[in-house]
Amino acid sequence: MTETSNDNGELYGVVAEFDDVTTLCNAAEKVREAGYTKWDCHTPFPVHGLDDSMGVKFTKLPWVVLAMGLTGCTLAVLMQWWMNAVDYPYDISGKPRWSLPANVPIIFEMTVLFSAFTAFFGMWIANGLPLWYHPLFRNKRFARVTDDKFFVAIEAADDLFDSSKAHDFLKSLGASDTEDVYHSAESTGLPGSLKGKLVVMACLATVPLSMVYNSYGKTTTEPRVHLVPDMDKQDKFRAQGQTSLFADGRMSRAQVEGTVAQGDLDDHSNNVVNAAFIDRGEERFNIYCSVCHGFDGKGDGTVHRRATELADAGHASWIPPSNLILGLYADQSDEELYSTITDGIRTMPGYGEQIPKKDRWAIIAYVRALQMAQKGDSVDTTGMTSEQRGELLFDSQTCSTCHTMNGARVIGPPLNGLLGQEITLDDDTTLVIDENYILNSITDPMAQARKGYPKAMLEVELTDEDLTDLLNYIKSQK
Ligand code: HEC
Ligand code: HEC
Repeated sequence: MTETSNDNGELYGVVAEFDDVTTLCNAAEKVREAGYTKWDCHTPFPVHGLDDSMGVKFTKLPWVVLAMGLTGCTLAVLMQWWMNAVDYPYDISGKPRWSLPANVPIIFEMTVLFSAFTAFFGMWIANGLPLWYHPLFRNKRFARVTDDKFFVAIEAADDLFDSSKAHDFLKSLGASDTEDVYHSAESTGLPGSLKGKLVVMACLATVPLSMVYNSYGKTTTEPRVHLVPDMDKQDKFRAQGQTSLFADGRMSRAQVEGTVAQGDLDDHSNNVVNAAFIDRGEERFNIYCSVCHGFDGKGDGTVHRRATELADAGHASWIPPSNLILGLYADQSDEELYSTITDGIRTMPGYGEQIPKKDRWAIIAYVRALQMAQKGDSVDTTGMTSEQRGELLFDSQTCSTCHTMNGARVIGPPLNGLLGQEITLDDDTTLVIDENYILNSITDPMAQARKGYPKAMLEVELTDEDLTDLLNYIKSQK
């Protein structure tokens, strides 16, 4: 019983209906043996063994997925190597620019990304999806494929196809019925109305993108869109604000008269400085300070040595940690040292967050011990030239904190090649540097301050011999 309808298009093929699984499987075997290639079976439930009867081979997709996974893996390695080691060398604490472990997460992710996309889209492509319509659904009997009937369809596109032969052949295999199936005469693409809607949606989808693009890199005085504003608009008293709650109209309250501070104060007076206290200070100093200032406090810690290496190689600039043994720091009050440890100073970070107050005082006691113990320490300078002694002074008197001899500006000007340089002073007069200027700069730094630099030059006590040595050293650095 062939159903003919006016809007039939081209012949799609022949569909045969079977009543049970055994006949279907036998039929499938025969169709395969007959040499057909474009044909398929349709069943209400998965039929074990049908694949074998049809000669369906296992999908190649897993191999494609494996290949693309390996591609993703290789690309991730190359990409990160190129980005971090070649195109934009990334120097983090002097670690190697390229090392595999750091790159494993991205390698893993790219591998998964490539395989997942390949599996997903590969499945669509391999199955010829998306398919808007299938001609078999135009056949009324075929609806029973979801219920209790089994179907074999041979497509007209098959090389061996011949309509009447196909009918006879399928009947001979036990089909209870066979029918021709036609394509629809109408277009089989997307319905026109749907196309229109998709175009409208695609246009609308560009609106948020264009808004982002439009505001990219622009500033505005409008408040930003606030989705969860609860932290911004809360009832609270602001310090220095006004309120009608208190008679004096102020929000912050003064301390109640007679309040006694208690607990962990910044005050040193409760500490007993004994051997145990200094031992504690030594331990804490070695933990917190020695990395930069060295175990003897002279400023030669490991961080300093490593940073100097990097600075010399031109990778960084570095201000050396101060030599805490210098008279300059021995003369500082305990409170000054305490403030340096707590809040830091210039380029040194503060350690108030890490070191409890009592330990800070213990460290100071230990620094005092270091200073006293090394007070008489001095390098044996006999047999040294004046220049060599000058170099020693330059480093030990913290000149090197602010000056370099390699043309690099730190806090003060670089001191190499000074003689004969024409410079501008703070009062806009110009001057050619001579020996006198160099000496005066050391003994009375503020008298002739150089333009463009902070008034930061330290005054240090030096003997005439020291001065001559320094001058000779500075002159020797071209
Ligand atoms: C990360 C390295 C680093 C650590 C750790 C460090 N310092 Fe320093 N410290 C410096 C540097 C650098 C300077 C010189 C700062 C400058 O001149 O810009 C300095 C300067 C100082 C000074 C001289 C301050 C002045 O008045 O000029 C004192 C005192 C000092 N440090 C004490 C300590 C103590 C005590 C500790 C341990 C709690 C410590 N530092 C830990 C790097 C460090
Ligand atoms: C705290 C930082 C600092 C320290 C430490 C320091 N200087 Fe200076 N120095 C400066 C600054 C800033 C200038 C430029 C402003 C000025 O002329 O006073 C300068 C200027 C100079 C000049 C004049 C150079 C010029 O081009 O004008 C000489 C020479 C000099 N310093 C030598 C020394 C010597 C020697 C020491 C060690 C005893 C020393 N400085 C320690 C900051 C410092």
